[in-house]
Amino acid sequence: MKAEILRMLRESGTYLSGQELCNKLGVSRTAVWKTINQLKEAGYRFDAAQNKGYRLKYAPDVVNAPELESLRETEWAGCEIHYFDCLDSTNIKAKELAEAGHPGGTLVVAERQTAGKGRRGRGWESPAGAGIFMTLLLKPEINPNNASMLTLVAALAVARAITEVTGEPAQIKWPNDIVIHGKKVCGILTEMSAQFDYINHIVIGIGINVHNESFPEEIAHMAGSLWTECGKSFRRADIIEKILEHFETYYGLFLETEDLVALQKEYNAMLVNLHAGVKVLDPKESFEGKAMGITRRGELIVDTWESRKLVSSGEVSVRGIYGYV
Ligand code: BTN
Repeated sequence: MKAEILRMLRESGTYLSGQELCNKLGVSRTAVWKTINQLKEAGYRFDAAQNKGYRLKYAPDVVNAPELESLRETEWAGCEIHYFDCLDSTNIKAKELAEAGHPGGTLVVAERQTAGKGRRGRGWESPAGAGIFMTLLLKPEINPNNASMLTLVAALAVARAITEVTGEPAQIKWPNDIVIHGKKVCGILTEMSAQFDYINHIVIGIGINVHNESFPEEIAHMAGSLWTECGKSFRRADIIEKILEHFETYYGLFLETEDLVALQKEYNAMLVNLHAGVKVLDPKESFEGKAMGITRRGELIVDTWESRKLVSSGEVSVRGIYGYV
């Protein structure tokens, strides 16, 4: 009922009488009054006027299920929202839910993580309230060989969402880091459980630094937050909602061809390394060249002085010639 009341007040943008709320929700006035009080305790502020009812004045920066459900405009992304104050990792929880039969589109969100997972076995700092820690569960009926492209689909959705909410152009560092002013503000960890020819599930874990004011010394040169790069605070729920909306659209386009042909142009336009020198750190053979965009399968096209190479994600890591980008 919290989500419904918040949605109705948001959609009206003005006062709604207690009676209107009761009628629409089919509950008693006392029930509405009790829910409004619970929302006040959670930090929401309302204007209440005699004969006019309630108006939503302020919504706190929370990312729990009622808040996200009240903002939700998607068809399937976020169809189930599982919120936790504290988790080891939202990816781990999403995999458990997948195995327990929860549908594709299920979203897991945590206020903080105690064992947030990064790429290449690294960790992901996840202090309470500072960031977005979310995982979207997918159960796509696609060829497992095409699944790695989904991480680029997610990067595009996140970059678009951050750009729209903050007004600051977010860029993508291939394959899926999101940077603003050359600082990494978001990382994505995609994990898959599959048979030879069948995907059981895929989890797309997204970590965004939102309110962090500083970072540990080891990563301070390359890490940023929306706060450090935009100088403003943003509501995390608005960003999550926009990510789900864009992901749903881009994922639909991806499924039509099982590749990135429809997204390639937009992805390349956001690529921070486009036409810039890059160093490809391949365990077999490292080399330098100029990044020329992605192929329809999401490989990075790198022109070296002698040939054109196609770089697949996996174990390879790409850096700028002089630093992170
Ligand atoms: C990276 O190393 O760049 C990827 C970081 C991914 C972190 C996110 S936070 C939410 C989700 N849960 C995890 O344990 N990891 C991802």
